[in-house]
Amino acid sequence: MRKRVGILISGRGSNMAALVRAAAQPGYPAEIAIVISHKADAPGLQVAREMGIEAVAIAARMPEFEVEADRLLHERGVEIVCLAGFMRLLSTGFVERWRDRLLNVHPSLLPAFPGLDAQAQALAAGVKIAGCTVHLVRPEMDTGPILMQAAVPVLPDDSVDTLSIRIIRREHEIYPAALARLARGEVRIDGEIAHLADVARDDRMIVPNP
Ligand code: GAR
Repeated sequence: MRKRVGILISGRGSNMAALVRAAAQPGYPAEIAIVISHKADAPGLQVAREMGIEAVAIAARMPEFEVEADRLLHERGVEIVCLAGFMRLLSTGFVERWRDRLLNVHPSLLPAFPGLDAQAQALAAGVKIAGCTVHLVRPEMDTGPILMQAAVPVLPDDSVDTLSIRIIRREHEIYPAALARLARGEVRIDGEIAHLADVARDDRMIVPNP
């Protein structure tokens, strides 16, 4: 049985679209049941509809948004929730209700550069390697057991835009891969460390310092 997934978005939804595309592949262990946004004009809602996915705007403040989102997620039989560019902090109650079934993607190698404008933070810090992280969500922003990370080089002439493009391409790879692992039950949480079954060596993780 494929796991039913709900996705929460705030904006353009390119990670959401990557998850929908992955879920359309034969053998993928999850299906996207619903996309929800707190913004009626989030471009990702239209993208989802064009991909044949139910997309709902709940234009309400917290906590009303969360209560309604929770109701819809349960009504659609959702078992895993993915935050995909969802820029609101969820309450502890919501996060605990979805504990170890709530994923987020963030455009940095967490725990470095949590919060807004992670790519700009990385450039300002002068790091030579940046990247992205998929993690299970805990109540504090951008924290929780890490399922996957991908690294990219920071090039000398990078702007926030060029670095963001390099990073988001990798987000679109690791988010569907991490969701598949969780949906297959291949993630074990030990303390606050996530262990994945049968991890192969991946040389792409090694990034030369430019
Ligand atoms: C992505 O880069 C995602 O990692 C980031 O917002 C962007 C959304 O793009 N999320 C965060 O910063 C969460 N702290 P998308 O709407 O095209 O997926």
